[in-house]
Amino acid sequence: MEKLMAAVIGTGSHAQGHLMMIKGCEEMHLRAVCDIDKERLEKAKQYGAEYAFTDFREMIDKCDLDVVYVVTQPNFTADISIYCIEHDLHTSVEKPPGLTSADTRRILEAESKHNVKAMVSFNRRYIPEVLAVRNMVMDRGGAIHCAATYNKPATRWSDVWGRHPVIHDAIHHVDLLRWFAGDADAVYSEYYVGDSPDRQRHNAIIRFKNGCRGVFMSHYGVGFRIQRAEVHAEDFSAYLDLTGAPKCELYADGKPYEKPLDLNPGFNETHHFVDCIINDKKPWSSIEDAIKTMELCEAILNGGKT
Ligand SMILES: NC(=O)c1ccc[n+]([C@@H]2O[C@H](COP(=O)([O-])OP(=O)(O)OC[C@H]3O[C@@H](n4cnc5c(N)ncnc54)[C@H](O)[C@@H]3O)[C@@H](O)[C@H]2O)c1
Repeated sequence: MEKLMAAVIGTGSHAQGHLMMIKGCEEMHLRAVCDIDKERLEKAKQYGAEYAFTDFREMIDKCDLDVVYVVTQPNFTADISIYCIEHDLHTSVEKPPGLTSADTRRILEAESKHNVKAMVSFNRRYIPEVLAVRNMVMDRGGAIHCAATYNKPATRWSDVWGRHPVIHDAIHHVDLLRWFAGDADAVYSEYYVGDSPDRQRHNAIIRFKNGCRGVFMSHYGVGFRIQRAEVHAEDFSAYLDLTGAPKCELYADGKPYEKPLDLNPGFNETHHFVDCIINDKKPWSSIEDAIKTMELCEAILNGGKT
């Protein structure tokens, strides 16, 4: 089988992970990289790209690409992704997919007119431990309760992007709750800002369509960066710590669950995207699904009480 020709637009800090995943994926070949910053572009060449460009339009014109990863700052992701989709390229969009759910809808509209796959790189969904726990929850009839904590010290946000960390950052754990429990149909949110915009606080109770209730807590301007989640099914509980290398505590029927997790080590979002492209499957973190995560973030930010 011929390899998929891939390119990365935006080769800043987070792109390094995508470049490594592409390099480690045998169905892909890194054809080109693109960044307006020549120093970053130079650094990205170490991943073996054949070509490097400072203009993504020129790159798309000149390279015979199949797949593009859009890893720019959030204020550019929607427009660049739409350009790629309109040029018939399979497109992986970094989170957040635009600055608002309306931006994400624009990406979906473009996707609906072109025969390509597009996904949002909600990478928490693809962590092997998260996938294994989710499978166990589904096998036990689905989630009945889930909760997520996403805390950080005071964090400065760009005025250009809008200063909303729940959209730009803590969206990971809003999406994780949705990955465990599905679509939400009600939110009660208490959102407030501390002494400065670097100190935003979010507390929300979410009701999911399957009857599960969820709790989301994200506080900026607290003691440390902590990313935890828990999910419960009937007679089953999983507590995940995703702050560093994933850790997981499991309990079933009133006692610790001792069997090892059924992991697919090394699996990542790039493998999933390749599978979707080759086998014509819908990505788990499709653009359509990402709209719902963006809308839930917006409801939390708006202090939704319904
Ligand atoms: N999934 C995660 O865990 C995670 C973590 C960090 C960041 N991110 C996301 O990744 C994206 C990038 O974040 P980052 O921290 O790497 O930012 P960054 O600023 O380090 O990198 C962004 C790069 O995009 C380049 N760029 C901007 N406009 C461009 C254009 N028109 N053409 C080509 N290149 C262009 C910039 O020059 C910069 O090098 C953001 O959307 C962010 O939300 C995701």
